Amino acid sequence: DTGKSGYDHYMLKEINEQPHALRQCLSGRVDELDGRVELEELDDLIEDPPEAVQFVACGTSYHAALYGARRFRDRGIPAQAFVASEYATEVPPTGDRLVIGVTQSGETADTLSALREARNRGVETLAVTNVVGSTAARECDHALYIRAGPEIGVAATKTFSSQLVALNLLVEGVANGPRSGVRPRSDGVRGRLAALRELPGQVQQVLDESNAAEVARTYLDSSGYFFIGRGYNYPVALEGALKFKEITYEHAEGFPAGELKHGTLALVTADTPVIAVVTGDDEIARKTVGNVKEVEARDAPVIAVTDGRSDVERYADEVLEIPKAHSVTMPLLANAQLQLVAYHVANELGRSIDKPRNLAKSVTVE
Ligand code: G6P
Repeated sequence: DTGKSGYDHYMLKEINEQPHALRQCLSGRVDELDGRVELEELDDLIEDPPEAVQFVACGTSYHAALYGARRFRDRGIPAQAFVASEYATEVPPTGDRLVIGVTQSGETADTLSALREARNRGVETLAVTNVVGSTAARECDHALYIRAGPEIGVAATKTFSSQLVALNLLVEGVANGPRSGVRPRSDGVRGRLAALRELPGQVQQVLDESNAAEVARTYLDSSGYFFIGRGYNYPVALEGALKFKEITYEHAEGFPAGELKHGTLALVTADTPVIAVVTGDDEIARKTVGNVKEVEARDAPVIAVTDGRSDVERYADEVLEIPKAHSVTMPLLANAQLQLVAYHVANELGRSIDKPRNLAKSVTVE
């Protein structure tokens, strides 16, 4: 199939397209010297920013939403992420809100329904989507395109990374907009924009140097796989586990690192690898290393995804290394390693990687 450009699967092609996709997403949108982003399509929104935001999304896009909500909160803007199908069951929000639907296809029924619910409640809506002219883009008040290019593999890869980058641009736009005087303007904005510019090259480095294929072969017939991460690495743990389940058909679960001990630790044995995402050397990393020690003491094989700044390697059987980067971009680098782990395990097991059983690229029923 020429569409795969020599790759065995669209998924692997799309994983490898990430550096290009991220450059596309950033292109013309960042003024690093000025420390500003330029999102012309969102001028109205940035001119009159919301007091709080709510995200609605499904699947992989929900994990991007969790990350996005945390980015907003970090900039002092209250934000929550909802699984789209749950949104209508919640008490309607009051006050000046923006509801953001994160949806690669722009056609997911659950997400469209949540966005319509928001509109019925008189709330302003924004679609963060890959597909120009999609239903979400047409129905929302605003649209922000992630520009990842077409994604054929059912398992979302490059669109997830592009969603995270687009959400960073959105946050910087809204938080630094003309009326943002009420919020402390962070000196860190230039550093974060520089980190976004460096990101495509760092993702390329991960793709070029990853040992995920060997690691995958070592742990093929385990009884279950647990993915853990804290802070910004929590959505990465969830996404790592989801990707793994979708294409390997093996049981996997993702957790906030501190939560594993509250029940699931009962399942941890020498036959359940724990994939731990540990980046940086702060308190967050130290606590996660503590959680890694707990599973290591139960003989679980530990696969650490790390930038080498903590001492997690001392407790790890395998290390998937990522470059040292900014705390907001590191999750994308860790995620690239987890995409490759899922891909190589699925490939070794001979799974139908681009079209996993029971799954559809876009789910148009609620
Ligand atoms: C389906 C796909 C998932 C995707 C989800 C949301 O379930 O199999 O990969 O994450 O829909 O899709 P969306 O297009 O709304 O991002």
